[in-house]
Amino acid sequence: MAVTIRRDERPGLAGLFVDMADNCERLGAPTYADLAAWVAEWVEAGDGRFSFLTPYADSRIGDMVPLRFFAAIHRLVLQRDAPGLAVFYASVGGTPPTSHRARAACRDAFVEVVAEHAEEIAAGLQGFPQTNEVGRTAALADVLARVDAQWGLPVRLAEIGCSAGLALRVDALVVEGVVPVRGDAVVPLIVERIGCDIHPVDPTTQEGRLLLTSFVWPDHVERFERLRAALDIASRVPAEVVAQDAVSFVQGLRLVDGQALVLWHSAMWMYLPPGDRSAIETAIERLGSTATERSPLVHVALEPTSELPGEQHVFHLRVTAWPELDDVPAGMTVTLARTPPAGMPVDWSVPCVGAIVHDGAGRLLVIRRGREPALGLWSLPGGRVHAGEAFRDAVVREVAEETGLHVVPERMVGSVERTAPDGSTYDIRDFIARLVDDGVLVAGDDAVDARWVGDAELRALPTSPGLLEALEEWGVLPTAP
Ligand SMILES: C[S@@+](CC[C@H](N)C(=O)[O-])C[C@H]1O[C@@H](n2cnc3c(N)ncnc32)[C@H](O)[C@@H]1O
Repeated sequence: MAVTIRRDERPGLAGLFVDMADNCERLGAPTYADLAAWVAEWVEAGDGRFSFLTPYADSRIGDMVPLRFFAAIHRLVLQRDAPGLAVFYASVGGTPPTSHRARAACRDAFVEVVAEHAEEIAAGLQGFPQTNEVGRTAALADVLARVDAQWGLPVRLAEIGCSAGLALRVDALVVEGVVPVRGDAVVPLIVERIGCDIHPVDPTTQEGRLLLTSFVWPDHVERFERLRAALDIASRVPAEVVAQDAVSFVQGLRLVDGQALVLWHSAMWMYLPPGDRSAIETAIERLGSTATERSPLVHVALEPTSELPGEQHVFHLRVTAWPELDDVPAGMTVTLARTPPAGMPVDWSVPCVGAIVHDGAGRLLVIRRGREPALGLWSLPGGRVHAGEAFRDAVVREVAEETGLHVVPERMVGSVERTAPDGSTYDIRDFIARLVDDGVLVAGDDAVDARWVGDAELRALPTSPGLLEALEEWGVLPTAP
């Protein structure tokens, strides 16, 4: 999982707050966006009321100084120590300022709190930022339902970088309506909940609850509601959370006969040094190689795949299973959805298939698309998977509809993502399929033409973007010249 690191940039104190303002603006937190922009101006002007921030002037973006600063002030609001500011914080029932006058009043109340509580805020800056985002479990819940549908085994849930371990209670979160699941998905009961974090938070203590709550942005009322409900569940549903580094935790995991092990993590991968990431991946693959139908392993991650501005707010749900899950071969990763950082709503990909069919002469079956995307270009036969249809059945149906030929899917060789005309994402899984009779090649349905092509002819055709590269990577280009 490659991540472009921006966390090491040191844009200066004002720059850190401009970055925070920008993030808050993008993520629908206008009160913080406004205040962070003001703080940037104040520190830029050398305002003495913010001098306790000076030691942090050379901080990295990844140190999250503005987030800690705002959390320290939010803590005062939550403790009822800042009533003048509380009237603008939705987290405690206040009204976020929208008019020019209210925004000015909020700004004044904010600096007043800073001046009055400088020491407490300075102390708060030294703490480690801690969030535990309950909404992210909506994506996890759906994968658990798939695991249950495939194996029907009791589930052990393990999480690295679990913070307070709220996601370890995902089954209760679903049952109690805190996070939604798609359609009639059934989340299995979790029989063992184990997690690690280098700075674990105890969600059953007043201090732990206050810490987690203070890091939520006050405008995000729904996040508060989910967090409060999850904290309540955590007091009733125990989970074992240890203060341990993710690498040694994963290396210590074992499979148990008769149980499915699901290893989950969210919003933590970016904090790991590259060496730790590969050590974890190696340990997961090693464990996966010993998995069986009686003791499967499923790795589920909800992480941004890039930290470039804007892109760090797109989280990708990636799933890798051992043995095969939903026709995806063991060890192959598929991306099922995207979410905002808070995890909801989940933007599920549209499941699609493509068929890689060769004839006896080593030529490849291609069709010319009669519809967007890639209208008029040559591609593999394939299309959307119908509701309730298995991927392999969709391959058989799509090839028959678009070419008149009958095939038997053998194995999935890879997947690609494409943007659909309506802006959603197609998750296209490509299967090698064997031709079972000669049939008559006739283009139909979404295809306006269909042909068998050798390598040279394929390269000469206008093909859909990325097709040749994918076929090459998977080693399935036509062998005929
Ligand atoms: C942004 S929080 C996300 C928490 C939780 N996974 C969630 O999505 O709400 C990142 C967490 O990763 C933890 N963390 C960072 N590096 C770690 C490591 N090497 N091993 C274990 N936990 C780590 C931090 O302490 C923090 O609790």
